[in-house]
Amino acid sequence: MTRAVVVTESASASVQDVGSEFLRPGSPDADGVTVDVEWSSLNFKDGMALTGDRGVARRLPLVPGIDVVGTVAEGDAAGRFNAGDSVVVNGAGLGETRHGGYAETAYVSAASLVELPEDITPRRAAAIGTAGFTAMLSVLRLERDVAPDDGDVLVTGSAGGVGSVSIALLARLGYRVVASTGRPEQADFLRSLGAADVIDRAELSDAGKPLQKPRWAGAVDSVGSATLANALAQTKWGGAVTACGLAQGSDLPTTVLPFILRGVSLHGINSVDAPAALRRTAWERLAVDLDLDLLDSLTDEVALGEVPGLAGEILRGRVRGRTVVDVRR
Ligand SMILES: NC(=O)c1ccc[n+]([C@@H]2O[C@H](COP(=O)([O-])OP(=O)(O)OC[C@H]3O[C@@H](n4cnc5c(N)ncnc54)[C@H](OP(=O)(O)O)[C@@H]3O)[C@@H](O)[C@H]2O)c1
Repeated sequence: MTRAVVVTESASASVQDVGSEFLRPGSPDADGVTVDVEWSSLNFKDGMALTGDRGVARRLPLVPGIDVVGTVAEGDAAGRFNAGDSVVVNGAGLGETRHGGYAETAYVSAASLVELPEDITPRRAAAIGTAGFTAMLSVLRLERDVAPDDGDVLVTGSAGGVGSVSIALLARLGYRVVASTGRPEQADFLRSLGAADVIDRAELSDAGKPLQKPRWAGAVDSVGSATLANALAQTKWGGAVTACGLAQGSDLPTTVLPFILRGVSLHGINSVDAPAALRRTAWERLAVDLDLDLLDSLTDEVALGEVPGLAGEILRGRVRGRTVVDVRR
C-alpha cells in the first residue's frame, strides 16, 4: 500500500492508503515506466482537480498531481529508462485522465519522461514543475519573434507560477519585463525576480478597445479573457503574444484588428501534450536559463497531507510563486 491524495465522486480530496492495482492504468502503456515519486507540485490545474472539476478530473476516483519527479523503479521494455534514473514528467494526462503525482508510485509512459538535467535537483525540478515548464515553452516561442532590444515584454498573472518563472527567465535573457499583478504587496517580490516595472492588473482586466496605444514588444499571458484581449490591443507592430491560461476566463473578447493592422501574432502554448523533443529542449534550456537560487526564493514546500487544503488557495489566486509537495512527508 502507498499513500495518495484521492478525489472521489463526492468531489472531496483526502489522503488514503491505496494499492498498486488502484494506481496502475486501466490500459497499460506499451512503453510503461514505474516511478518512485519523491516530489510533485501545486498548479492551478491541480486546484481544479482537487475540487473535482470535471474539466480536469476526467475520471473519478482520481489521484491529482500533474507533475511527477522521482526515480525509475522499473524501466520500459525498450530500455530507454532504467531503474535508478532521475526523471521528471509534466502533464501527459497525469492528474487528469490517469493517476498523477500525489502518490508514492506513478505509472507513466516513457514517451513523456525526461531525464533530469544534472544541474537540477529533484526538488528544484518540482519547483519548476508544469508552471515553469510552461513558462519555458512560452519564452521559447516568444524569442523566435521578439528580441530583448525590441521593447518591453508584459507578463500577466505575474505573482503566480507561470508568471513568476516567466519573469525570472525573461529578465535573465535580457528582456525588460513589466509585471501585471492584482497583488500590489508583491511588487518587491516581482522586482526581485527581475521585473523592471510592476502594473496593477486592473489596467488590463476590463473590456477595452481592440487597438490601443502600443506598449509591448511581446507578452506572456496566463490569464486569458479581457486581459489577453488588452495585451493584444497594446502590442506593437509585428509583436508576439503567448497564451497558456485562463485564470481570468477562457473567453477572448477581441477582433481581428491587432492581427491584420499590426501584424501581431498570438501563439498557443500547450504543455500537456508537448512532444518528447520539445520537452527535452525546454528542460535543457531551464538548466541554463533559470537562476536556480532565484527559483528557491519563489518556492514554498508542503507535505502531501497539506495538499487537499490548498486547492481553494490556488484557485483564489492566493498562492505566490511555486509550491513543491514532498510526497513522502
Ligand atoms: N496551457 C498549458 O499547458 C498550461 C500550463 C500551465 C498552466 N496553465 C494555465 O495557466 C494559468 C496559470 O497557471 P499557474 O499554475 O501559474 O496558476 P497560479 O499560480 O494560480 O497563477 C495564476 C495567476 O493569475 C492571476 N489571476 C488569478 N485570477 C485572476 C483574475 N480573475 N483576473 C486576472 N488575473 C488573475 C494571479 O496573478 P496576480 O496575483 O499576480 O494577479 C494568479 O496568481 C492557469 O489557467 C493554468 O490552468 C496552462
